[in-house]
Amino acid sequence: MTQAQIGRTQPSGVVGATFGDDWWQNGIIYQIYPRSFADSDGDGVGDLPGITSRLDYLSDLGVDALWLSPIYPSPGLDVGYDVSDHTTVDPIFGGDAAFDRFVDEAHKRGLRVVLDLVMNHTSHQHPWFQASRASRDNEYADWYLWLDPAGYTDDGTPIPPNNWLSWFGGSAWQWDEPRRQFYMHTFLVEQPELNWRNPAVEDAQFRMVRGWLDRGVDGFRLDVFNAFLKHPELLANPEIEGATLWARQQHLYDRDQPDFPDLIGRFRAIVDELPGRMSVGELFASEAERAVALTTERHMVFDWALLQAPWSAEAYGDAIWLRETMFGHDRWLANVLSNHDQSRHATRLAESAGIADTDAIARAAAVVLLSIRGTPYLYYGEEIGLQDVDVPVDEIIDPPARRALVDPDFEWWNRDRCRSPMPWSNGPGHGFTTGRPWLRFGDDADGRNVASQAIDDGSVLATYRRLIALRRSSEALRTGTLQLVSVGTRDVLAWHREAPGEHVLVVVNFADASRSVTLPSQGDESFEPVAGSHVDPSAPGAGNALTLRPLEAVILRVG
Ligand code: GLC
Repeated sequence: MTQAQIGRTQPSGVVGATFGDDWWQNGIIYQIYPRSFADSDGDGVGDLPGITSRLDYLSDLGVDALWLSPIYPSPGLDVGYDVSDHTTVDPIFGGDAAFDRFVDEAHKRGLRVVLDLVMNHTSHQHPWFQASRASRDNEYADWYLWLDPAGYTDDGTPIPPNNWLSWFGGSAWQWDEPRRQFYMHTFLVEQPELNWRNPAVEDAQFRMVRGWLDRGVDGFRLDVFNAFLKHPELLANPEIEGATLWARQQHLYDRDQPDFPDLIGRFRAIVDELPGRMSVGELFASEAERAVALTTERHMVFDWALLQAPWSAEAYGDAIWLRETMFGHDRWLANVLSNHDQSRHATRLAESAGIADTDAIARAAAVVLLSIRGTPYLYYGEEIGLQDVDVPVDEIIDPPARRALVDPDFEWWNRDRCRSPMPWSNGPGHGFTTGRPWLRFGDDADGRNVASQAIDDGSVLATYRRLIALRRSSEALRTGTLQLVSVGTRDVLAWHREAPGEHVLVVVNFADASRSVTLPSQGDESFEPVAGSHVDPSAPGAGNALTLRPLEAVILRVG
């Protein structure tokens, strides 16, 4: 936060009364990467019966909803984000019966179920694509983005129709011999892009959405949703200066089209046929402004301002301030520090600040995540401070990471590193599997697991439990206004959360050394620490002076 921003009036949160009992705003959403959570049958791959067997753990943790990364049949080239049938559940996860049982058991415990919808593209093995590539004049011919070549080189090689790029490296256009045309793919060659401008595609997708709602699903995460629509004429993007191939074009025509909000409106109309159903869009490669523009009632959008901030009071202050200012009173925020595509924040934030104690960072970051305005999204394992895992080159699964090994024009961070199996206990298989896990555990899994942290009051897990319990009981933390406030020390960030009848102050020391601050006071308020990064949060002394330990964050009730 810059000095100019300190003390500026922040836009306040929407007043509590408008929230009613909207779980998607009040609650906490927990992301499960199904392959990595719990394996019931010893094949080394997590599955739905495994997740079902851990539902008591999740409801004890105090989360409200479970978002499952894709569970549909898939050849697995993008580890499930290449879907070959969106309407059913992959037998590797236990199939449809296991899913229905999972939903029932989750609902019995008051846990909602959020599915990951990958609607921008399909697998090349999807029957729609198989039909589409077969000829130019069948029912599915226009379900994908097909174009003729821009021409042919002297040796007869077809030239791609425009300069669009794949996020996973190389051109976005793949030549397909049967049709003698190119098809477009933002991701892998094996993930052809659907043509959302064809009404038949929209109808089919929305029928599929209705099918999941009928099966009791409470919400959806929309994969790369701002990429669904392209410019109707698939125009070339303007070329600009930039550090990477991707950055050397202005992505004007391959995403973020002006008529996209109408499409989301039609999607929301279906979801809103049932009460309390939420959605959250994954913003693909765009700035926070786009997230703001696409946020509507019961529809959140992940922006990346918070997730991209390094661990410093200034960067976090800036990110919180920017997001509060941009989202304003009427739009709800989706808060996230880790997911299946990014370095886990215990590792990332510790590295960004050169701090060795990743648990201390994980505990302090938990205070931030669970006490800023918006819905917290937890990524499985962050509650035990899981770190990125070093995966040897010959074990790499993530396809763009494999491409980066051989393509000098393409850089990629190996996403396997943040997808390692959940360690539940000590010993072989760590309570995750009786077989050989599909990805390796971290080297620390014998000391860092749910069982060992459950009996340690000072653990990351115990900290999450305390903070979640406090948040559940605090209207101010769930729905209150947020106002950043200066406490006069560069490394310490503080903010007020206020709801009618309740006021809390959050104070976070980003330094790996103790810091003393004076709490902002208008008169004779009292400050009572109620929770924080440490079991015994520090309390202020005379004159509201508060000394925080290294990386200590406290939540104080203001009386
Ligand atoms: C989203 C997913 C990512 C996937 C990509 C293509 O960004 O989060 O895991 O690879 O979409 O589906």
